[in-house]
Amino acid sequence: MAADDLLTLKAAAEQYSVTYDRLRRAAWDGRLPTEGTGHARLVRSEHVETFLREGRVVPGREAPPPKRTAPPLGKIIAVALLKGGTGKTTSTLNLGVALGQRGYRVLLVDTDHQCSLTSAAGLNPAELAPEQTLFGAIQLWTTQLREDLHNVIQTSPAGVDIVPASIRLSLTERALHLQNRREYVLQSILAPVAPQYDIVLIDTQPASSNLVHNALVAAHEVIIPVEPEQLAVESLGLMLDQIDEVRRSRLNPHLKLCGVLVTQVDVRMTLHRDLLSEIREQFSSDLPVFNTVIRRSSKIAESQARHQSVLQYDPKGSGATAYRALAEEISREWE
Ligand SMILES: Nc1ncnc2c1ncn2[C@@H]1O[C@H](COP(=O)(O)OP(=O)(O)OP(=O)(O)O)[C@@H](O)[C@H]1O
Ligand SMILES: [Mg+2]
Repeated sequence: MAADDLLTLKAAAEQYSVTYDRLRRAAWDGRLPTEGTGHARLVRSEHVETFLREGRVVPGREAPPPKRTAPPLGKIIAVALLKGGTGKTTSTLNLGVALGQRGYRVLLVDTDHQCSLTSAAGLNPAELAPEQTLFGAIQLWTTQLREDLHNVIQTSPAGVDIVPASIRLSLTERALHLQNRREYVLQSILAPVAPQYDIVLIDTQPASSNLVHNALVAAHEVIIPVEPEQLAVESLGLMLDQIDEVRRSRLNPHLKLCGVLVTQVDVRMTLHRDLLSEIREQFSSDLPVFNTVIRRSSKIAESQARHQSVLQYDPKGSGATAYRALAEEISREWE
């Protein structure tokens, strides 16, 4: 088939005088096969014609069936710690991809206006229109009390679905502050889509903001990534207080700690070894600390800079192996 049969979704929408959203939704739910990923997704003109005629493309060219046949778990997990740079975004992406590889239907949600998760997953936040991001979805809710994440969710080049962020998300803080029941906005927006996924992983900002509160209220469980450094260990205590406050204030009385994930461990450093055992001694009787530890690895940092998961960038390396082990450890109780 000639390469010029391939069109971008926008070009196909123009050529066939249909809305871009109609084609994007069909591409998203598998009725219209695509080639490439993210914004580079291309469609064949003959497939577009078949889709417009028959509502989906002919058997044999249909998207593969969902990997899991069991009802979705619909579990929402926030990845949170007030301290910056502890591996929240890295862990959200790589755990999400590792769970996806185990057959779980995964949705990532980027609630940080730094958009690190969005770009680490291979999307360019600057190319997204406001209504294609969480900002647009929150705006729709705060202005019209309507939720419509279906139009926002994209399949990322990392291979899992994502609700992307944009820098505009920083503008929502004030809007949320003025909003009635402001802690429940994310929960309300996620409610119609979460039941279609096994796992929804929410990446959060390193701040005590309305958006972080929203994530803790929407979540069933929290993963806390900490570096083995004194400041991170102290902020672990603060994070535990915050979870406790969310429970006691009845905003989310059943919020559970999924586990503390020790990241960026350099096993050669004595300080790291001491703090690692201190975390285990200080907290393990009360707190679940994952057996899986994420070691410091240049491949993990490189993968993020290349906008890929480490499972894609260095699938056989220690980083990918560790995140696969974490996915196995977390999903053991569901399997
Ligand atoms: N295990 C690791 N080994 C090496 N580098 C890592 C590892 N985990 C994360 N990094 C790097 O550390 C930096 C911070 O990681 P990340 O962005 O995941 O932290 P964060 O907690 O999300 O930060 P923020 O609070 O700013 O959102 C990134 O450059 C990332 O590539
Ligand atoms: Mg981050």
